[in-house]
Amino acid sequence: MKLKNPLDMHLHLRDESMLKLVAPLSTKDFRAAVIMPNLVPPLCDIKSLKAYKERILKVSNDNHFTPLMTLFFKNYDEKFLENAKDEIFAIKLYPAGITTNSENGISNFEIETLKPTLEAMSALNIPLLVHGETNDFVMDRESNFSKIYEKLAKNFKNLKIIMEHISTKTLCKLLKDYENLYATITLHHLILTLDDVIGGKMKPHLFCKPIAKTYEDKTALCELAFNAYEKVMFGSDSAPHPKDEKECCGCAAGIFSAPIALSVLAELFQKHSNQENLQKFISDNACKIHNLSFKEDKIITLDNENWQVPNEYKNENEKIIPFMAGENLRFQVKS
Ligand code: DOR
Ligand code: ZN
Repeated sequence: MKLKNPLDMHLHLRDESMLKLVAPLSTKDFRAAVIMPNLVPPLCDIKSLKAYKERILKVSNDNHFTPLMTLFFKNYDEKFLENAKDEIFAIKLYPAGITTNSENGISNFEIETLKPTLEAMSALNIPLLVHGETNDFVMDRESNFSKIYEKLAKNFKNLKIIMEHISTKTLCKLLKDYENLYATITLHHLILTLDDVIGGKMKPHLFCKPIAKTYEDKTALCELAFNAYEKVMFGSDSAPHPKDEKECCGCAAGIFSAPIALSVLAELFQKHSNQENLQKFISDNACKIHNLSFKEDKIITLDNENWQVPNEYKNENEKIIPFMAGENLRFQVKS
């Protein structure tokens, strides 16, 4: 099977020795990826963003990979955004404290407060990526964020709003109700329900935000992905954390899936859909939504060959357990 220009529309690469370990593994199968800005401190200025992009390119460019950079959302003025426009792909909004390194996020969702920045983004055609969760009961957090998505979609009709890593049937439906709402879907939300995470022995390596939900929610997500619904794109939300920070009291949220994502998607689409829809889900939909094109194409070949996911990935400082560690997969990426 061959795929043209696979794109990961939501990727965490971290920094320093973690970046060195995960970037080559996370970028080898992809032509480009949207890089998340939740570093410590978050990426809020162009100098830091450009320096981070250089660090990413330095450790991953044997893979002919393009990082699509994002800024961390705060109130930016129009002049700043005009200057930033050519360096950024989008701006990512986190509600304050909702997930890893989001303490500097937004706690006031009043339209008047957000208006100057969101109007400038609309005018400059800068997409808004959103981690959509409230502080309510954990299973309701995403659905309850619907009212904020609706408010944003209605008040900023020219703003392209991407609902990141959707995990509920509520948002699968909302996507169809507003022209300017789009979504990314992860690999893990196509596979897991809450039962896999806490139904038997608790599995820290399957713990992520938003948490995997019910069978009905998973089915709704699979329907969109496997039919390559034109408003959804693949975004792994691959989010590595050191083994010690997952296997402890106070487990960090995040699943490290990027190195195996394409193999597993190939297997899922072979079983439940077809290659044409995988090509749309993994690349063509995102290219259309964001007007993306590439000077040089990257063609990925996947062979029908069994291989085993490593039990861990490590370098001299870091050790990470990947999604599906030790499991056998049917497609191997040959590049
Ligand atoms: O599980 C998650 N991990 N969800 C997020 O939104 C953030 C991410 C991370 O950065 O670790
Ligand atoms: Zn994320």
